[in-house]
Amino acid sequence: MAILITGGCGYIGSHTCIELLDAGHDIVVLDNYYNSKPEALRRVKELSGKEFPFYECDIRDAEGLRKIFAAHSIEAVIHFAGLKAVGESVQKPLEYFDNNVGGTITLLEVMREAGCKRMVFSSSATVYGMNNPSPLKETMPTGGVTNPYGRTKFMIEGILEDLCVSDPEWTAVLLRYFNPIGAHASGRIGEDPNGIPNNLMPYISQVAIGKLQKLSVFGNDYDTHDGTGVRDYIHVVDLAKGHVKAVEYAMKHPGAEAINLGTGTGYSVLDLVNAFQNVNGVPVPYVIAPRRAGDIATCYADPSKAKELLNWTAELDVNDMCRDTWRWQKQNPNGF
Ligand code: NAD
Ligand code: WQD
Repeated sequence: MAILITGGCGYIGSHTCIELLDAGHDIVVLDNYYNSKPEALRRVKELSGKEFPFYECDIRDAEGLRKIFAAHSIEAVIHFAGLKAVGESVQKPLEYFDNNVGGTITLLEVMREAGCKRMVFSSSATVYGMNNPSPLKETMPTGGVTNPYGRTKFMIEGILEDLCVSDPEWTAVLLRYFNPIGAHASGRIGEDPNGIPNNLMPYISQVAIGKLQKLSVFGNDYDTHDGTGVRDYIHVVDLAKGHVKAVEYAMKHPGAEAINLGTGTGYSVLDLVNAFQNVNGVPVPYVIAPRRAGDIATCYADPSKAKELLNWTAELDVNDMCRDTWRWQKQNPNGF
């Protein structure tokens, strides 16, 4: 029996492959390389010392998926594959709905045909929308998302919940990630964004290495301790370990369950910049810029449900996140 990892060549997927292999699971990986490179999985094999089957396949390709399910006995799917750039999703909504929502429906149909009814899904704290106060709890209303990317996550959560109501054999664990950053402690795998990064941490590390001149801090007039936006940054290796716990939980508990994966602690933009500078001894020049449209002041998790159901809590702190990001950046200045 094996676990199928869609999008397993990407940032979170590649780290999760390592943790699954370390925990003794057999994996099968698929990716269409839209936002990743084969080198990532070569390094996963190098770090884990294990081999596993890989398929270059799109989740919208039902025939391609059928071949994978025919060739392997898949007991659960961890579904990372998707497009994730918020700004791009505003420009290309149809592409986002087709890839993320359409692709997930095709994948679920093929899973059902194959009798595999367990999915761990990469959702996002973005489903909490703009109006819930932090700490965010799974019982709070979702929706009110402000962009097509976020709407795809909200829609897929709903599809999975409806599927679990329609057939009690289905299991769906909806993992709502907060802000994943950091890299594997080896410095061999990490986040490899295309072009100029949209997210804070890859931007900081590219400023630190001199690829970008300075960081723009989007707003310093929020109602937070220093005026800059507060987020729940979580180390990608902790997040990956959360997936191992979640898929093991999914083997035993049918039904749909939404679970936050965050640390429960919020750091501001300037907290992160200062931590990065202090831990790594490198300057990160910045300027204060206007607020970015669609941003909220504060977003952090109540992570108690993950502790209760999965016996999972984040173990790495913001200094680990900064140190590991910098090691990856320095060792791989041009990514993979
Ligand atoms: P990523 O882009 O590094 O990984 C996604 C992978 O999916 C890539 O390797 C890409 O090539 C692949 N892919 C995309 N569309 C595909 C398709 N149609 N068929 C097959 N493969 C496809 O992104 P990530 O940061 O590792 O994110 C993984 C998942 O977690 C995504 O669903 C993302 O939306 C979600 N998520 C990410 C964050 C974050 O901040 N990184 C936060 C919350 C949720
Ligand atoms: C963090 C903070 C910015 C860049 C996004 C998605 C979310 C999830 C994670 C997928 C904010 C500030 C940023 C910069 C800055 N992804 N910032 N200068 O917006 O919390 O979440 O990624 O699901 O859905 O929306 O993350 O890293 O972009 O921003 O000042 O150059 O850093 O304003 O306060 P965000 P982020």
